[in-house]
Amino acid sequence: MPRRDKGPEAKHVTTIQIREIRDQDATSQLTHARPKRSTTASRPSAFDKAKEAGRLGLVRTRVFWRDIHPDQAEPHILLSPSANYCHRYVEPLCFWWGKNSRLLVGQSLPSADIEDLDGTVSTVVNATSHNYAGFYKADPRSAELQQLCLERLPLADAEAVPLLESAAHSALAGFLGADFCYTTSTGYGSNYVAFPALMSDSKTVVIADKNCHNSMFTGMYLAQPGHSRLLKFAHNDVADLERRLIEVDGRYDRVIVAVEGLYSMEADVPPLGAMHRLKELYNFILLCDEAHSLLSIGTTGRGCLEYWNDNHPDAQVPSDLIDIRTATLSKAIGGIGGMIAGKAKFESAIRSHITQLRQDGGGETLGSSTMVQTAWVLGQPTLVARRLRRLADMSRFCRGELARFGIHVWGDDGTPMLPVYTGRPTYAARLSYVVRGYRLLASPIVAPAVPYWEGRVRINLSAEHTNEDVDKLIDAVVKGSADLGLCNSKGIKEAAIQTTFSAAWSL
Ligand SMILES: Cc1ncc(COP(=O)(O)O)c(C=O)c1O
Repeated sequence: MPRRDKGPEAKHVTTIQIREIRDQDATSQLTHARPKRSTTASRPSAFDKAKEAGRLGLVRTRVFWRDIHPDQAEPHILLSPSANYCHRYVEPLCFWWGKNSRLLVGQSLPSADIEDLDGTVSTVVNATSHNYAGFYKADPRSAELQQLCLERLPLADAEAVPLLESAAHSALAGFLGADFCYTTSTGYGSNYVAFPALMSDSKTVVIADKNCHNSMFTGMYLAQPGHSRLLKFAHNDVADLERRLIEVDGRYDRVIVAVEGLYSMEADVPPLGAMHRLKELYNFILLCDEAHSLLSIGTTGRGCLEYWNDNHPDAQVPSDLIDIRTATLSKAIGGIGGMIAGKAKFESAIRSHITQLRQDGGGETLGSSTMVQTAWVLGQPTLVARRLRRLADMSRFCRGELARFGIHVWGDDGTPMLPVYTGRPTYAARLSYVVRGYRLLASPIVAPAVPYWEGRVRINLSAEHTNEDVDKLIDAVVKGSADLGLCNSKGIKEAAIQTTFSAAWSL
């Protein structure tokens, strides 16, 4: 993608107030080779912290007051004719207190229509969906097929459903090079099934990355109430993982190391090179939740292992490094459901757990339209590869452009989510609000999902975003960050110099 002249933004950002910035290289503790991130983060002063605590106290008091005097609260106002909800939303943690003055009225596509309180509808770039590979908009043939499924195969016990189900299972297993695959009714469900199934029949300990998704920890707790067989290691910190492995060595029959294929709050992948070395030394089972990495990273969409090997030609890991994968079909694939795929030796444990759940009335099959959608997406490898190449290019371009302005974006090269650093949660809420004014919809992410002082606004890219969307998106983030003083001085100077050079080039 060509670089664009950012003259107007450069002018805009020179007017902002410069905030104290410190270098904080989050990768320095990692022992594995991976792309170096340029990280800058503002350090909250004692005064900042006191101010934040004061705001928090004030908002909590107002919420409390409203709760005990509901008659004094302002009445709810209907915001949109098309939705019967509207609210004042109050988010004490973010110091956000006000009318939720906009409402999504369009589909979750690369751009969305939002209706303002005054009734005007505007189109914004939608960076809040998980439509990474751009498969949410079904083509007419697939839409027809899905309609047919809904009409003819609505029930799980319809005769053709098991056939469809086993076709979806083989498509997924074949795609991932797994010996088996089972599906669950949600992505959450895949972890609820996998952990109890693997932890039930032996003396097992799970060592999980502390940033793993809630559904994974819930799966572990369901397997063994209490924390006795669960240990956590610092996010992507191989040295810490090794300490844990030494701690449990020889004390358990089975050790499971649980990671995610792509951490959606950090946009980084697990250090598979170093994990491979540890696996050879300590012989554990590697379980990976590929909810965000399936069909979003790797040349052909096969997730973190493929991504790792694409990016580390000199330190390849074997294709069978991951023993068992869980994932959701509700993100890149665009259905509703989850899957568990892995090596043959785990099949009977997973199968009997699913069978037991179904007998108890707790496990449901996948909707038939999701089975069709899965088979449709996996049946188009060339299109997937083309879209993922575009997605990775787009991510690199955005990361490069935002870095020019001193805006810190977490994560690894080419990953499709861009978590833009804001620091304290208040700023995450404000940046999300401000960029919405510049026609970009992006989610604020705050504690407890991320550490308190590391709030961020997450931009999810989609292969369906056009070049124009990408320009608008960068423009909105740069302007919004500048308005809030989140760009650093070095970045602004560099951006101004580069802009002068690129202007000179184009003459
Ligand atoms: C890593 C991870 N696992 C599992 C899930 C659950 O998936 P679903 O929402 O489809 O149930 C999510 C959802 O956000 C996720 O991010």
